[in-house]
Formats: sequence, structure tokens, C-alpha cells
Amino acid sequence: MRRFVVLAHKVPTSGEFSLNDLPGTGGRVDVLCRAVGAALFISHGMRTDTEITLLVQNAVQIRISGDRVKRLNPDERSTAAILQLALRGAGAEEVETTPGVVASQSSLSQVLDRLYQLESHPVVLHEQGVPVDEYALPADSAFILSDHEDFSNEDEASLADVPRVSLGPTALHTSQCITIAHHLLDRDERDASDDLVLCHKVWEEPKAQLIAGLLEDFGIPTNLLSHGVTSLYPGMVDGLGEVRIMVRPRDLEKARAIIGDYFGQPVDE
Ligand SMILES: C[S@@+](CC[C@H](N)C(=O)[O-])C[C@H]1O[C@@H](n2cnc3c(N)ncnc32)[C@H](O)[C@@H]1O
Repeated sequence: MRRFVVLAHKVPTSGEFSLNDLPGTGGRVDVLCRAVGAALFISHGMRTDTEITLLVQNAVQIRISGDRVKRLNPDERSTAAILQLALRGAGAEEVETTPGVVASQSSLSQVLDRLYQLESHPVVLHEQGVPVDEYALPADSAFILSDHEDFSNEDEASLADVPRVSLGPTALHTSQCITIAHHLLDRDERDASDDLVLCHKVWEEPKAQLIAGLLEDFGIPTNLLSHGVTSLYPGMVDGLGEVRIMVRPRDLEKARAIIGDYFGQPVDE
């Protein structure tokens, strides 16, 4: 299950705002509406493997599950109406205010506790975090983001032990970060399910290892196949015979270009 948590700092916890003025009286509830859309909608459908929690002023949580939510539409106004009902209905115990939408009084530390109990992997998305290319995102990541404001000092204290990952040095909108996070996890899922494809064949093991190292330098993982036996790079490929250098489909073109440049001749297979 993918999860997103958005910390909202100005949305009124009472739910008392005008649906005609989401940025003003709503305290930028429009940012939350876009975050909900980015988390749960795909073209002509819903991400049923995703849940988003909105934590309003560290006091009220609204949790929306993609597999159960009903009557959610892509427009901000109708989403804001669903959030308004949730805020108005939130009490000490969790209550389902509309189908698939649960609300209750809560705090960031309680939200984090629940994530850990579910064995989810919280990750703070932050401009100054570790570059995402250097961080192996677990499939069941729980991404924590702020709204239009920076994380507060109180947020920072609660999140001190959570890894921070950056999507680049440019400050993006919350909903844009959610779209990118989905894209990265979608790509990882495809990589895990796609079969590797043949990139190149060589006859000497040292040459295969050299090419594998070269591709690794460009961030392209390889498998070397020899005598019909799979060996994980940089594992063993024993002895003579054909060695097949296998790569992910999305790396094939780039890998062949790199090998072609290095040896000064085009590579077909
Ligand atoms: C609009 S930004 C917050 C305000 C922003 N720090 C600013 O004033 O320019 C919303 C949130 O998206 C996330 N975010 C924005 N850009 C990011 C990036 N490049 N990498 C990771 N997360 C980012 C962070 O969680 C951030 O708090």
C-alpha cells in the first residue's frame, strides 16, 4: 500500500470555510484537494493501492482510501465539501464521514505510530533531503509532505528520525511531488515485473565484467548469463563460453550506446 501524509497548517479544524473561497477562508484547503487528486486519481480510474492522510493543524486527521472512497470527483470544490464534512464530523474516535473517508482528532506522532504499526516506511519529502536517485524507495513507502508552508518546528521535531528524500533542488507544489512519487514507484513496479532483455553478447568473461562495470558507472544494473546459468552482477561467471549481458528494457538503448561509444563500434546485440 502506498501512503501519503500531508500536513496542513492553516485549514480551519472546525471545517468552517466557504466553498467559494478555498484559498482564503479555507486556509489553502485547495492545496489539500489537489493533493488528494494527485494521490488517488489516474485517468479514468482510482489508485486502489493508495491512501492519503491529511493532518490539519496537528489536531485532526482525515484519511481517504483509494479502494473504498466513493463520490470523489477531480474538481477541487466537491473534494473540499468532502473534507469539510470530515472536519465537522471528527471527534475523539474515528468516524467514517463519507464512504472511504475517516476522520478523528489526532497528532503527527499518532499518525506516525499508525504507519509504523502497519509496517509502512515513512519518508519525508524535502528539498534538502537525500537525492531520490540515491535512496531505494520501499514499495510501501509513506511519503510525508507539507502544504504551501514549510514544515513547522513542531513538525520537524516529530519527524527528526524519519529519512528525508529530495526530488531535486527546485521547490515543487505538494501535488506535483505526489505525482512524481507515484511515477517513481510505478517505474520500480514495472522494472520488477519486466523481464530483462539481451543487450550484448561477448565470448570472454573479463570483457563481460568490464562492460557490466562500465554500465554500472552509468547507473545501469546488469545480469550476466553464462552457460544458461544466471549470475547476479557482480557475481560469478565461470570460465569460457558465451556471456550474455542482460539489462532492463528501459536501459537497452542507452546501454548499447554506451558500449558502442566505448568500443568505437555500434552494438546490435
Ligand atoms: C510548496 S512546498 C512547501 C513550501 C516550500 N518550502 C517553499 O516555500 O518554497 C510543499 C511541500 O512539497 C515537498 N517538496 C517540494 N519540493 C520538493 C522537492 N524538490 N523535493 C522533495 N519534496 C519537495 C515538501 O514536502 C514541501 O514541504
